[in-house]
Amino acid sequence: MKKARLAVFASGSGSNYQAIVEACRDGRIDAEVVLLVCDKPGAKVLERAKRYGTECFAFSPKEYASREEFETVIADVLDERKVDLVCLAGYMRIVGKVLLERYEQRIVNIHPSLLPSFKGAHAIQDAVDYGVKIFGVTTHFVDETLDGGRIIDQGAIVYEGSDIEELTNLIHNIEHKLYVKTINKLISKKH
Ligand code: GRF
Repeated sequence: MKKARLAVFASGSGSNYQAIVEACRDGRIDAEVVLLVCDKPGAKVLERAKRYGTECFAFSPKEYASREEFETVIADVLDERKVDLVCLAGYMRIVGKVLLERYEQRIVNIHPSLLPSFKGAHAIQDAVDYGVKIFGVTTHFVDETLDGGRIIDQGAIVYEGSDIEELTNLIHNIEHKLYVKTINKLISKKH
């Protein structure tokens, strides 16, 4: 059976991108990452992609007249590469209707909180500030809302310490495993 073809969208460090690529390489996911889409030229994820030999589509949103315009270009590239599933991994942008319509039910995201709590860019800090003791990670389908869309998987840990860096690392470790589980779940339905 043919391998599923994944695109990863990222804006920053790319540890989730790397975890997905490594899982594809060592057979924990029966798929290949055929494209990295990055909206931040200079982001660390691009160095990682170079190291792993993933084709990159890096773009500056401000060079386009509108989100519709750059999403149309991205959707055309995804079509050309015959992408089955889009995995957002720290892509710091709301996905618009062009991509949502072309890749309906085929765009997923990972978020470092137990959604629907603590949406947004500072989820871990917001949860700490709130005094939370059970932290977690959520994978979900993407819709036009911020960190909305139907939940696919969740993972949780109890943390009562006060070291945000330690907590962030623990959460990232959960993310890297959870995304593998979710991708497997989604591609096995298709293939
Ligand atoms: C992760 O915490 C992810 O949940 C969130 O953005 C972060 C990206 O981290 N959406 P990385 O770039 O994959 O290391």
